[in-house]
Amino acid sequence: MDLVEPYLRMSKTGWMVLKAIFRNMWDYEYVPAYIISRDAKMSQEKVETLLRKLADEGIVTNKYTEYLGSSFTFMGLSIYSLHLQVKKGRVSMIGKLMGEGKESVVYNCMSRDEEAVIKFHRVGYPSFKKVKKKRDYGTLHFTVLTIRSARNEYQALKKLYGKVPVPRPISWEGNSVLMELIDAKELYRVKLENAEEVLNMILDEVASMYKAGIVHGDLSQYNILVSEEGIWFIDFPQSIEVREEGFQDILKRDVENILTYFRRSYGIEKDMNEALERIVEECRSSEWT
Ligand SMILES: Nc1ncnc2c1ncn2[C@@H]1O[C@H](COP(=O)(O)OP(=O)(O)OP(=O)(O)O)[C@@H](O)[C@H]1O
Ligand SMILES: [Mg+2]
Repeated sequence: MDLVEPYLRMSKTGWMVLKAIFRNMWDYEYVPAYIISRDAKMSQEKVETLLRKLADEGIVTNKYTEYLGSSFTFMGLSIYSLHLQVKKGRVSMIGKLMGEGKESVVYNCMSRDEEAVIKFHRVGYPSFKKVKKKRDYGTLHFTVLTIRSARNEYQALKKLYGKVPVPRPISWEGNSVLMELIDAKELYRVKLENAEEVLNMILDEVASMYKAGIVHGDLSQYNILVSEEGIWFIDFPQSIEVREEGFQDILKRDVENILTYFRRSYGIEKDMNEALERIVEECRSSEWT
């Protein structure tokens, strides 16, 4: 997905309309045109013309009921979030697309003088119904869920940075998280010579994470980066706090994923319960059974 071209094509009035949608989307799945008109101080006619144009460009989706209402698409929410990062002086240049998956689009960028990464979340979109059913999010729609997911990732990174090797979080705006660029490759793309040592390093860091109060929740060979310099953990939107409901099962699944990967790829056998006990020992949680 190209964000730069639609970003550059936006007009000043277009940004004003997006700002009004952003401000009101907490209250309305489709923000009524009259609310946008009031917020952006623009005639309703002008707002409706702009909304139709933005819909043609894939930035919003409009719904016609008793009134015309408008909602962000993933692209629209992403360019508005990028706009906020740029306005706050945190992003000065967008570089190449680094990854595009089901749940995110990741770009290389410049933040002040530093090379960084900006990740645009899209949890729940377009498969929003599935997510809603699975976790009972009530009436929350994809924009709100996506922003929550970005916030959760940013907060986990903030909590862990300095304690566990994770990218340094720089900022969070809308569905975007800006963070340090790690110069390393995903574990699954690397042939390790010291696999056992790396596995132990990973388990030690999972213990440090646990001690810091976080369970990753999607730990796998895809979300661990490795280089000569060390290992890093990425991808935290689904992380949960230790003591949140069900955290034990999630920790167990995380550890299981890693042990399975090392068993299949390197023939290393490690006992699941021993590995878990070692992690939990670090914290001596009384709630652990
Ligand atoms: N801080 C970073 N430094 C370097 N590369 C990164 C960084 N963050 C993400 N990446 C790259 O972008 C990819 C996707 O990021 P991440 O794992 O956070 O998102 P994701 O939700 O897994 O996306 P997907 O929808 O593809 O599953 C990573 O596999 C990695 O290659
Ligand atoms: Mg990932």
